[in-house]
Amino acid sequence: MEEMRLQKYLALCGVASRRSSETMIAEGRVTVNGRVVTEMGTKVTGKDTVCVDGKAVKPERNKVYIMINKPVGVLSSTSDDRGRQCVVDLVEGVRERLYPVGRLDYDTSGLLLLTNDGDFTRKLTHPSFEIWKTYEALVKGEINEGNIKRFSEGLVLDDGPTLPALLTVIGHKGDNAIAEVRVREGRNRQVRRMLEAIRHPVIKLKRTGFGPLELGDDLRPGAWRYLTDAEVAMLFKAAGISE
Ligand code: URA
Repeated sequence: MEEMRLQKYLALCGVASRRSSETMIAEGRVTVNGRVVTEMGTKVTGKDTVCVDGKAVKPERNKVYIMINKPVGVLSSTSDDRGRQCVVDLVEGVRERLYPVGRLDYDTSGLLLLTNDGDFTRKLTHPSFEIWKTYEALVKGEINEGNIKRFSEGLVLDDGPTLPALLTVIGHKGDNAIAEVRVREGRNRQVRRMLEAIRHPVIKLKRTGFGPLELGDDLRPGAWRYLTDAEVAMLFKAAGISE
């Protein structure tokens, strides 16, 4: 195996995405040949013994790609120091170490991908690939044409202007609107903040689509399934990965 940076090696082992691996390294959780390493530039090969939290890790041979319908009240992470339930805890019977592709808020439900493929995760979550994400939002009040137009031009949030996004009213519930929202960025609580900016705070939020994938009606909250080969191929194409 070629020499590579420690964070890339950890992603290849299915420990976490490269970015999360960097955090683990900085936290002093990673050893190389018995020595704690906190420098990001460290290079390793297959001959080195790399441990995370004292457990040896090896590159994953088998790549797995899973879609889960994340319920509200579950964290999009692999562990929580406050003991809250994490999305990977819902997947039983898979021996590979999984981690989420991006995040959904604790109070958001819907389509989340889980994988042990670090390169896939990095590309699908990198802003330059602009993968469209689709959400169904129950929001306070009725949405007018002016706000739909503002959305389509992009809004200015406290962390800067957003890319143009799509807002479509698809239903009503009492005095509130049900809207489909499509964004191609992945900023923290972006959909909630965009809807708040046009004075329609979110009551309920569910992700229904990720790039070419749709959640559909077959997965109840908490249920999961492997992606089909065709679905994985579609995502690879969307992220510019050659198979
Ligand atoms: N935008 C949000 O506000 N929350 C999510 O969980 C995902 C996108």
